[in-house]
Amino acid sequence: MKIKNICCIGAGYVGGPTMAVIAQKNPHINVTVVDINEKRIAAWNDEDVENIPIYEPGLSAVVKEARGTNLFFSTDVDAAIDKADMIFISVNTPTKTYGVGKGMAADLKYIELCARQIAEVAKDNKIIVEKSTLPVRTAEALKSILDNTGNGVNFQILSNPEFLAEGTAVEDLLDPDRVLIGGNVNTEAGREAMQALVDVYAQWVPQEQILTTNVWSSELSKLTANAFLAQRVSSINAMSELCEHTGADINEISKAIGMDSRIGPKFLQASIGFGGSCFQKDILNLIYIAKSYGLNEVADYWEQVIIMNNHQKRRFAEKIVKTLFNTVSGKKIALFGWAFKKDTNDTRESAAIYVADYLLNEQAEIVVYDPKVSEEQIYSDLNYLGTRSEQENRKLVTVVRDPYQVCEEAHAVAILTEWVEFKELNWQSIYDNMLKPAFFFDGRKLLNKRKMEDLGFNFYMIGE
Ligand code: NAD
Ligand code: UGA
Repeated sequence: MKIKNICCIGAGYVGGPTMAVIAQKNPHINVTVVDINEKRIAAWNDEDVENIPIYEPGLSAVVKEARGTNLFFSTDVDAAIDKADMIFISVNTPTKTYGVGKGMAADLKYIELCARQIAEVAKDNKIIVEKSTLPVRTAEALKSILDNTGNGVNFQILSNPEFLAEGTAVEDLLDPDRVLIGGNVNTEAGREAMQALVDVYAQWVPQEQILTTNVWSSELSKLTANAFLAQRVSSINAMSELCEHTGADINEISKAIGMDSRIGPKFLQASIGFGGSCFQKDILNLIYIAKSYGLNEVADYWEQVIIMNNHQKRRFAEKIVKTLFNTVSGKKIALFGWAFKKDTNDTRESAAIYVADYLLNEQAEIVVYDPKVSEEQIYSDLNYLGTRSEQENRKLVTVVRDPYQVCEEAHAVAILTEWVEFKELNWQSIYDNMLKPAFFFDGRKLLNKRKMEDLGFNFYMIGE
């Protein structure tokens, strides 16, 4: 079976970049990415390709190449569903904020709405691909909705979780460690559907890196991968605190253990805690699933990853207050970075939000500089917490576009995102314009401690 038309529901951080690369590598397939968010679609269609809604290195070039040829962005969801032989569902699956499972389970309402819309519109057989991260056995629920509300056509459900990381999305898509495709291996139609998706990826991914499994393994592999990755960050962060009490250096430890080929060198960077839209959400979901099967020890085991992460964010903020003679009230503190990691404008669950909130509770005056995050986004993140009124947030927080301005008359600087450009700043001139003693808190281990101390800073670095 050869795929001619693909539709992707959800033009977000996953749908947009993934479909851009699929379109670029499959010039014979028409790819239409649809979304109900008109503003987002308009931005994807912006004449100036630099204005697409997601910042990812290399993405605008890929979009430029395929857009208007075989890559389209549209708000006409029904038309794209109708035309497609393969439909990716790439909508958001946030943590539930209401009802049973509130604060833990994944909210599947957007997924279900997609399934119902597909069922209503589809007049011929379609392959449905779960691209969103979903609880294990979601495919069963999707199948039930599609088969019971559809027009009698046949739906094959595949699971094809996405492993890209933000900031390196294009690189990860072009050269993935593996592509995972789960499907119904027991039926001819199931195997055909899987092969059709394998063919799409085989245009650029070597066959041996395309893994096929049963649906449940594929769904659960995604949650497992994120849980393992987040667990590594929490593990190294736990050791970073021990380092601070013992004179050991977390960088030296990361290097020493990372050279053990069984451990490996990646994901051992101590930080102010992991952020991003997925690690916390997916682990909470995993905990919820384990509990729902009565597996309390499994749930407790994974919960520690979140507990450690919350502790790391809080302890960094506490360290700032303690170091500034136990009060930051009325003191200007300059925050460098708001995104949850470098090379992205995404701020979802960014540790910076929680550090800022803690400092604001202590009545600090916050000034923020981030090279890619907009002022509106920063206020919106703080307002979303609901800790204080929007007016108060506006009064206490200033967002500047000039990294030198951010530090004028500041008592302290804190690095919250590892933007490379922070390394190149003229820290001497920043030091000169700060109040003394000038405190520096490097939450990303970005700068050289000795050099910064030579400039005059009182320098604190995570894990040293
Ligand atoms: P996102 O919020 O950026 O994008 C989701 C989009 O879906 C939104 O633009 C929203 O308007 C749209 N949408 C929701 N319901 C819709 C509907 N019924 N019809 C049309 N459009 C609809 O989310 P994201 O970051 O792209 O994540 C999507 C999924 O991929 C999640 O399950 C996430 O866990 C998973 N994931 C994300 C990443 C990542 O790096 N962000 C990586 C791997 C997997
Ligand atoms: C993560 C996974 O890496 C992807 O494989 C997965 O597809 C994605 O989640 C998802 O499902 O959404 P992402 O969150 O975009 O990707 O970025 P990561 O590079 O994993 O970083 C997550 C957080 O951990 C960031 O805040 C980062 O600063 C932090 N981190 C990462 C550390 O503090 N130390 C490290 O060593 C690595």
